[in-house]
Amino acid sequence: MKQHISLEQGDINASALRKAYFEQLDEQTKYWIGEDARYFLHQALSTPVMNVLSKTEGPYIYDLNGKQYLDLHGNGVHGAGFSNPEAIKAVIEQLQQSLAFTPRRYTNIPAVQLAKKLVEVTPEGLDRVLFCPGGSEAIEMAVMMAKHITGKWKTLSYWDAYHGTGFQAASVGGEEHFSTGHGPMVPGAFHVEFPNYYRNPWGWKEETAIDEEYLRQLTVILQRNPDMAAIIGEPISSTPVVPSRNYWTRVRELCDQYGMLLIFDEIIEGFGRTGKLFACEHFVTPDVLVLGKALGGGLMPFAGIVTREKYNVLQHRSIGHFTHEKNPLCAAAGMATIDYIADHALVDNAANVGGYLMDQLLALKEIYPLIGNVAGKGLHIGVDLVKDQSTKERAHREAEAIMYHCMNEGIAFKLIEGNIITIRPSLTITKDHCDSIIAALKNALESLPGY
Ligand SMILES: Cc1ncc(COP(=O)(O)O)c(C=O)c1O
Repeated sequence: MKQHISLEQGDINASALRKAYFEQLDEQTKYWIGEDARYFLHQALSTPVMNVLSKTEGPYIYDLNGKQYLDLHGNGVHGAGFSNPEAIKAVIEQLQQSLAFTPRRYTNIPAVQLAKKLVEVTPEGLDRVLFCPGGSEAIEMAVMMAKHITGKWKTLSYWDAYHGTGFQAASVGGEEHFSTGHGPMVPGAFHVEFPNYYRNPWGWKEETAIDEEYLRQLTVILQRNPDMAAIIGEPISSTPVVPSRNYWTRVRELCDQYGMLLIFDEIIEGFGRTGKLFACEHFVTPDVLVLGKALGGGLMPFAGIVTREKYNVLQHRSIGHFTHEKNPLCAAAGMATIDYIADHALVDNAANVGGYLMDQLLALKEIYPLIGNVAGKGLHIGVDLVKDQSTKERAHREAEAIMYHCMNEGIAFKLIEGNIITIRPSLTITKDHCDSIIAALKNALESLPGY
């Protein structure tokens, strides 16, 4: 079987540095990593694992020895902090009411209240909700809905984006890792490049010119594919690249002009991460907003879509016929999480603390030539490591070495595209946490040979 493992999703579990990290772990941890690897199907990113956790709380994860790590990844669920006490309380109260599930054809008050809340807090014009267990399924619902509404069947999305696992989500996703080796994907899935102001193929720096070229390429595809149902993208890419407002305004106009729906995947960015409750608030309102991860409060698997009133026209179909569509435990967790984010001003915190962290990282960039670029918004930041500032060759090995060094210093993160440090901590972090991130990165950078 072909053994190539792509670096698109970041660090992988088969590298020499991962082996070295494993070797220095204690015997009990090694035992459980071994047992995990013995019983789970192996996958490039999740089995074998890196470490074993005993607790996840607030912005932290803890290993079996009780060592604390500030988790800058959290799979995106820890916006309001892991094991959020309010979310736990809400779920326990819901369990105590003996209403943990609602069979289809019935509803329950927590599910209705959460749907109503989402209509209230999402941008004006998004008024109808559909829930499902996971983000990949929510993407599927959004795309299926767009195809029904428009009567068209093609999609346009972005290379290198991750929108989930499964045939539809991986088809609109732009990573080879998830879409090859299992036969034909969903047909009609076209892709373009996401605007990139640091790494564009022309070496340009001027934002307007870069936008124009990416928009020109996108328009060429639209002109030749009248069957396009939707454009699907994350408002800010996961790397992250923050597009100009002009870019998304123009895409919004093209969607209206060509009769397509604009679908924003905010499974990572929703609920405050970018310093606005929803990342689309920096740009334009989509026709479908896809939410997940933090929606379940880090306790329950939950996701969904919020869309326009005028698209409530599929009464004769079921595009989201999921068993846990109106699960009251998930709804209770979601409601408590949204309230917690509001009550603790976590959106403002993401903007303020994120701005502080960004300044510190930009200052590091001035000192260390390995840092080619720092980009992002709020607490959604990427640090692009390069071997050479002018060629921008990706510093894969150095990035991995920094990751394991920081891990030992109690700062956990994942890489994306093999060389970009992703910083997406809980929105509860403080400036002191940021200082500890910077200190660990500095130490790691200093520890590299030749720096
Ligand atoms: C941007 C984005 N979209 C979709 C998904 C898929 O969500 P889920 O893992 O809940 O299916 C993810 C998960 O990482 C994601 O980051």
